[in-house]
Amino acid sequence: VGLNVAAQAAQKLYFGTATNADQWTDKTYFDILKDDSEFGQITAANVMKWFDTEPEPSVFNFTDGDVIADFVKATGKRLRGHNCVWYNQLPDWLSNGTFTAPELAFIVERHCFTLVSHYRGQVYSWDVINEPFNDDGTYRVDIFFNTLNTSYIPLALKAARRADPHTKLYINDYNIEGIGAKATALKELVRSLKASGVPIDGVGIQSHLTVGGVPATLQQNMAEFTALGIEVAITELDIRFTALPPTAAGLAQQKADYATVVAACNAVPGCVGVTVWDFTDKYSWVPSTFPGQGAACPWDENYVKKPAYAGITEGFLG
Ligand code: G3I
Repeated sequence: VGLNVAAQAAQKLYFGTATNADQWTDKTYFDILKDDSEFGQITAANVMKWFDTEPEPSVFNFTDGDVIADFVKATGKRLRGHNCVWYNQLPDWLSNGTFTAPELAFIVERHCFTLVSHYRGQVYSWDVINEPFNDDGTYRVDIFFNTLNTSYIPLALKAARRADPHTKLYINDYNIEGIGAKATALKELVRSLKASGVPIDGVGIQSHLTVGGVPATLQQNMAEFTALGIEVAITELDIRFTALPPTAAGLAQQKADYATVVAACNAVPGCVGVTVWDFTDKYSWVPSTFPGQGAACPWDENYVKKPAYAGITEGFLG
C-alpha cells in the first residue's frame, strides 16, 4: 500500500512531503507527488519563506506560494505552512537593515499576519516559529532575538492566530528528536507560552537524521511534548548516509530507522502525521549542504523505492 494509505490506516492524518514546483516538469516526479495513496500532505520547501513572500518591506508576493497552495487545493491534500519567522532565507532589506525593537516588532507582526491571512482556511498547520534554539538549548541569537529577545515568539503566534483562528500554530526545530537540552528548552517554552495564554498548538520535530542515529528516546520525547497539551508532527524527515554509496547493510539499517521513526509517531496518539523533506534523492537538499552525504530519501534518484519505503509502511502498519 502507499505511504499515505498506510498512515491513514494507522489513524494518522497524513503522510506528506516537501516539494519545489520547479521539479514538477519532471513527469515521473509529479506523478508520484500527485498520487494520494502516497502523499496526503504537502509542504512548500522554499516559497512561503520570508525572502519570497515579502521581498521588499510591506510588498507581499504570493505568486510562488500560490502555485503550491493551488496544487494542494486541486488534489485535496493537506497543506502545512512553512514558515513565518526564521533566521534563514530572509530578504536583504531585513537581514541588512537596522531596526529598533518597536520597528522590528511591527515588521514581524505584519509579516505573520499578512502571510497567514493570505492562506486562511487552507493550511492545516503553520510553522510560525522555525528553529529558535541552539543545540545547547539557549536561544539562537538571530536578528529577531537580538532586537526583541524572546518577545518575537508570542508576538508572531498571536498575529498568526488573529490571521487564521483555525490553523494549528507550531514551533518547528531540529535536533529535538531525542530527550536533551534542546528538547527541554522547547518544552519549557511551550509551558511558559501556555501559562501566559499565548496560542501554541503543536511542535514540529524536523527529524533530519543519520542512518543508525535515531535517538532511542524519540517516542518518549514525543509523548512528553504531547503531555504539555499540544500535538506533534514529524515535519522534515530524512535519514542520510554519512558515507556513500550505501551498502546493502546500510540500506537495511535505513529501512529500520525509517520504521522506528514512523512507529514512534504511530505509538503516540498526539502525533498527527509524518512529512519527508522531499521523497527522492534526486531533489534532496542533503548533498549540497553535507557534501559526500545523502541517499536520505525513500526513493532513490531514479525513482526506485529503497527498502526505506517498506520501512515506512511497516512503521505504520506493524
Ligand atoms: O533560488 C536560488 C537560485 O536563484 C540560485 O541560482 C541558486 C544558487 O545557489 O540558489 C537558489 O536558492 C537556493 C534555495 O534553496 C532555493 O532552491 C539556496 O541556494 C539554497 O540554500 C536553498 O536551500 C534550502 C534551505 O532550506 C535553506 O537553508 C533548501 O532548498 C530547503 O530544502 C531547506 O529547507 C530547510 C527548512 O526550511 C528548515 N529546516 C531545514 C531544512 C533543510 O535545510
